[in-house]
Amino acid sequence: MVEQVTAAPSRNAASAAGPVLSRPKRLREVEGGEESRLPLPIHEFSRVLGGGVVPGSIVLIGGDPGIGKSTLLLQASWILAGASGPVLYVSGEESERQMKMRAVRISEGMSGGEPESSSSSAGKSGGAAAFPESLFLVTETRLDAILEHVQALSPRILIIDSIQTVYLPELTSSAGSVSQVRECAARLQTLAKSSGMAVFLIGHVTKEGVLAGPRVLEHIVDTVLYLEGDRFQSYRLLRAVKNRFGAVAEVGVFEMRGDGLAEVSNPSEAFLAERAAQSPGSAIAVVMEGTRPLLIEIQGLTSPAAYGTPRRTPNGVDLYRLLLISAVLTRRAGLRVAEEDIFLNVVGGIRIDEPAADLAMAVAIASSMKDRPVAADLVLIGEIGLSGELRAVSQTNARLREAAALGFRRAIVPKTVRRGEGPPKGIEIIPCRSLREAIASALVPHE
Ligand SMILES: Nc1ncnc2c1ncn2[C@@H]1O[C@H](COP(=O)(O)OP(=O)(O)OP(=O)(O)O)[C@@H](O)[C@H]1O
Ligand SMILES: [Mg+2]
Repeated sequence: MVEQVTAAPSRNAASAAGPVLSRPKRLREVEGGEESRLPLPIHEFSRVLGGGVVPGSIVLIGGDPGIGKSTLLLQASWILAGASGPVLYVSGEESERQMKMRAVRISEGMSGGEPESSSSSAGKSGGAAAFPESLFLVTETRLDAILEHVQALSPRILIIDSIQTVYLPELTSSAGSVSQVRECAARLQTLAKSSGMAVFLIGHVTKEGVLAGPRVLEHIVDTVLYLEGDRFQSYRLLRAVKNRFGAVAEVGVFEMRGDGLAEVSNPSEAFLAERAAQSPGSAIAVVMEGTRPLLIEIQGLTSPAAYGTPRRTPNGVDLYRLLLISAVLTRRAGLRVAEEDIFLNVVGGIRIDEPAADLAMAVAIASSMKDRPVAADLVLIGEIGLSGELRAVSQTNARLREAAALGFRRAIVPKTVRRGEGPPKGIEIIPCRSLREAIASALVPHE
């Protein structure tokens, strides 16, 4: 049960009697075209936002505890404070001293200026960077006090860490409750829209994966981002799930290091770095994350079930997808996996929910089952249908180009009527109609 406090007769009622100040305008009379965005030189972050920070917008960043939300926003504040003007970072969770500790930790990574110069860094080491002049920290949880600080400082960017800790004393409910979170966010939004200040809110995700102070918040804000990843792996994905100023489904990839989050501008390379190419049970899928193709290693392992019902253990994919693929392997590809335990693992702590990776999953399992490796220079693209047929997936050419760029020479793709442009150069296409056919061409024959 969630307490919902009905507020005392609101000020809205009073103002309803006042004069009407708004006036409909013709669309062509409205000023301002392209939003002028504040550039944010953390490219992975900037792209997810849609190409920079929109003044007056309000962005919610959610994520599991300890995933790196504060780190990411402190790094962004640092850079924005240098480039765009005053930034106020309000923490309701940590003391100024603790924030300073984090700042000292990331200062190492912040030095070295231009972050795009290297393949994976938000700056290069070479001594700690100086603390920016116009980055202000304050520990405060009362929203009215925060608003006063904003008045006094008029920052370009305001960061609230976290929205669940701030409260308005005039509401009786406790901080983090639905009414507090909603009212505080609404106040901040009014302020952001009128002043042109961009606001970032950090939100905690509950165990069920919803932002606490539920979806009301997602409606109020302009952009909702999730920082996700396996806490035991170093990769972090920043994903847009709602964006009024950019495409959703964009993903930024970071690596958590001692000196903060570093950009990974070529994630495929990073994900494939540890691949043991000649061992059975490993196959390469090409999945789209937003507009960007990612090459990801999928590992399958089968082992005879000792007793009882064989287990199906997916890591990084949906269990039902794995059940479906095992059923198709049994019935349509003649592979006797029914008595085998199956483990499926997506390398790098990534979660795949795109059917285009079906084929790679099935081939990884088949490869382990038959104890024959998948050819090392091969990528697999295709969705599997219930009758064992391969179905075409979107943006095949973009996927193939990425694979070719990373040195893969052959690709198994569904055999369909090809329209439009031909396949990219430098990669040989092996069209297959069925899963059975694909497995036969993918696996290296026994000597
Ligand atoms: N010295 C270090 N070396 C490497 N990684 C570190 C180091 N110190 C902290 N980290 C990483 O930073 C993470 C904490 O980051 P941060 O405080 O930004 O997370 P958060 O999402 O804000 O957490 P919370 O939900 O508690 O506010 C840790 O989980 C750890 O992975
Ligand atoms: Mg934090």
